[in-house]
Amino acid sequence: MIRDNIFGFISQFMGIETVKYLAPHLLKEADLNDPISIESTLLDREPFVATNISGRTPSGDLVRGKFAFVPLLAEYLTRQVPVPRSVYLPLIRGAVNKLADRGASFVGLGSLTGSGLTGGGKLVRPVNTYLTTGNTFAACSSVMAIEKVFEKFNRKFNKGTFTVLGATGSIGTAISHELAKRLEGDAKLVLLARSEVPLKNLKNEIRKPFVEYSTEIEANIPLADVLVVTTANHNCVVSCDMPKSGSVIIDDTKPWNCDPRLKDREDVLHIDGGLISVPDIDFGMNMDCPEKTIYACLVETIILWLRSFEEDYFLGKVQHDQLPIMKEYSQEYGFELAPFHSFNELIPEKFYENFSNRCNF
Ligand SMILES: NC(=O)c1ccc[n+]([C@@H]2O[C@H](COP(=O)([O-])OP(=O)(O)OC[C@H]3O[C@@H](n4cnc5c(N)ncnc54)[C@H](OP(=O)(O)O)[C@@H]3O)[C@@H](O)[C@H]2O)c1
Repeated sequence: MIRDNIFGFISQFMGIETVKYLAPHLLKEADLNDPISIESTLLDREPFVATNISGRTPSGDLVRGKFAFVPLLAEYLTRQVPVPRSVYLPLIRGAVNKLADRGASFVGLGSLTGSGLTGGGKLVRPVNTYLTTGNTFAACSSVMAIEKVFEKFNRKFNKGTFTVLGATGSIGTAISHELAKRLEGDAKLVLLARSEVPLKNLKNEIRKPFVEYSTEIEANIPLADVLVVTTANHNCVVSCDMPKSGSVIIDDTKPWNCDPRLKDREDVLHIDGGLISVPDIDFGMNMDCPEKTIYACLVETIILWLRSFEEDYFLGKVQHDQLPIMKEYSQEYGFELAPFHSFNELIPEKFYENFSNRCNF
């Protein structure tokens, strides 16, 4: 099918190094040794369209889109005192409008631009263009990754501690519900985040006896056999020594909230979550993903655009009952999980052979 319009996708920069690499012109007048100078220079910039996206889905449908950057660093949105909403919202809205002006009928709000900060995107909604956060397929592909690990090691969901860090977020909530459907026997589900009330509400919503919740993050991470990380932070939440030997981590965060040294631990399987194979799509620049892969949230945007979706797709919290539907859509276009990577490096087959004896679920 050929569409006469395009899709769009936006993101903030993950960190200052990404700006230096991908858009050094933005920092021309900044003192690179002074974070305040960098911040004021960036916030003075306009969002801009950085690249064209073109190619085909695995099923052969034509894909045409554009990617725009919002001149913000992840840390401006996630630190304890973020830049004011009156500053970041117009920048995010501006990026969406730029794409709409260039013919984007459907726009994905990547990384932190569609998180709680923008009401899951509701606050940046323009006229005549529909939005998604891409979080439904991100959550769906994480659950698929867990299933693939269990299949690989021939394990069942009937024992061990399954922990969702960032359980009350948009992605975390859906993953928690989906895991709860699969667990049985002696398995238990532990929900972790910093605020207690949303955790309690989520536990009540799930209504299964094996669900626990806690705000004691450092105490609980070392108890997890399977740890799903869905926090929205700009710094490290899971340090290298926290996870126990034999555990599996599905890390959905962007920027990464797990210590990259985890990839050197032979007794812990750390997997980059939400990574999808896209053998025939050219993104026009280095998207900070392994070759021929891209994030699930961008793939969700492509899928909804190809389906001519004419409403926003569940902005705010992911509706967990949408996960099987999104999985079906993705299969229709031939999208599959990418081979497992850890911090963008392919996990070699030898790793699994050694890990198989160590994994403790
Ligand atoms: N791979 C992909 O395709 C893809 C797609 C979209 C998003 N993402 C990434 O997925 C992550 C989650 O996105 P989201 O939209 O679900 O975020 P969100 O709705 O803002 O949720 C964040 C969750 O993390 C918790 N949290 C934040 N900081 C924490 C900390 N230091 N310790 C423990 N819990 C913490 C929050 O609860 P409290 O505030 O109560 O702690 C909340 O439960 C982000 O990193 C985003 O960039 C990946």
